[in-house]
Amino acid sequence: MNTKTVPELALFSLTAEVNNQGHLVIGGCDVIDLASEFGTPLYLFDESTLRHKCREFKEEFCKYYPDTLVIYASKAFLNRALALIFEEEGLGLDVVSGGELSIAHSVNFPLDKVYFHGNNKTPEELNLALDLGVGRIVVDNFYELELLDKLAGERGTSQNILLRLTPGVDPHTHQYTTTGTIESKFGFPLATGQDEEAVKQALSASNLNLLGLHFHLGSPVSEIQPYELAMELVLRFAQEMGTKFDLSLSEVDIGGGFAVPYTLDSEVPTISDYARAVTGKLNSFISELGLSRPRLIIEPGRAIVGQAGVALYKVGAIKEIPGIKKYVCVDGGISDNIRPALYGAKYEALVANKALEAGREMVTIAGKLCESGDILVRDINLAPAHSGDVLAIPVCGAYSIPMASNYNVLPRPAIVMVKEGRARLIRRRETYQDLMNLDLI
Ligand code: LLP
Repeated sequence: MNTKTVPELALFSLTAEVNNQGHLVIGGCDVIDLASEFGTPLYLFDESTLRHKCREFKEEFCKYYPDTLVIYASKAFLNRALALIFEEEGLGLDVVSGGELSIAHSVNFPLDKVYFHGNNKTPEELNLALDLGVGRIVVDNFYELELLDKLAGERGTSQNILLRLTPGVDPHTHQYTTTGTIESKFGFPLATGQDEEAVKQALSASNLNLLGLHFHLGSPVSEIQPYELAMELVLRFAQEMGTKFDLSLSEVDIGGGFAVPYTLDSEVPTISDYARAVTGKLNSFISELGLSRPRLIIEPGRAIVGQAGVALYKVGAIKEIPGIKKYVCVDGGISDNIRPALYGAKYEALVANKALEAGREMVTIAGKLCESGDILVRDINLAPAHSGDVLAIPVCGAYSIPMASNYNVLPRPAIVMVKEGRARLIRRRETYQDLMNLDLI
């Protein structure tokens, strides 16, 4: 079945097709069978798409800038099975907590390829990172700079670090996910004097080894220009610091934020577009400023896992308010995907057991949680849906599961990895008992 007949297929995982029963198939598995075997809500990850995206990032960036290290931003979604795949694909990891670090450690992920981020790493987390031998700690602020120097000193080690800078560049994304502007809680603001002070302190700290500079503008960033602008500011700063303090820039880390299309009308740069533009600017600034070639680090999260993930829900109640609205209610909602409610994020959807039927009805897909804002997709043209149908939402691989909650004491969904017709559970569904196990009476 080609994607012209079912335009939404273009958004689903790369292996998406429709079988002769008219069912959506991902990774060679009929999703209706998966929904009955594993229950709903269910999150599917397509292994081929995951691996394809890892390789695409590596190939596209290394084509123009061979010394590029791709580190996957775990916050988009990490569990142990995924960490193993990223390890096999030769990626590094960006972690932001002792929890993410522990997952990496638990599967023997090479910790020298782990970059530890965060604006308020606790002393316990920093100690864990030092104990495990994390490759780089990306220092966010003066408190951390002093604390880390002290903790490393207590161990008699020297820790490799990058400094996170806030370049003062607006990436034109949602205000909740904007980090590049000067008022951000993240990083040392450029051009305030604090940036220079941070470099000076880092270079004079006895137990820290300053290897380079980092910035992250926001997520998702659908324009390329903000990266180019921020890179120019940071590289000019690096050159200035080289002259003033003898800083030699071994690494420049431009963060993540690469956008993906969520809806049929969204137009975002491809991985290749980002790679060509960013490395082009990097190469030209290196020549202009006479810098020695630093390693380029990129931290994609969403653009690696987003398209690989599909959410499946069972349709329950259908409520029509005559002349006003028709709700199709599903068995999940903001507890497994808070993005529509939190950021106004938009998604498409498909009735997965009638994948070939064209959209004929304007409906709103509502979740089952006790909040009027628990709407997954507002006003979508859907094939007529009935109770018992299975609804599939594409591009659910990033920031749904990791931001899931147990609101209304709903167990968090199961997650299944699909590949070549085989499905394996990579996280079992929570049970009511799981949720009560932590309570003491
Ligand atoms: N590096 C740093 C330092 C970050 O803070 C982030 C995301 C990334 C990399 C990865 O960004 P990505 O490539 O995935 O866009 N919950 C929001 C997104 C928050 C992003 C936080 N930081 C959402 O659901 O859209």
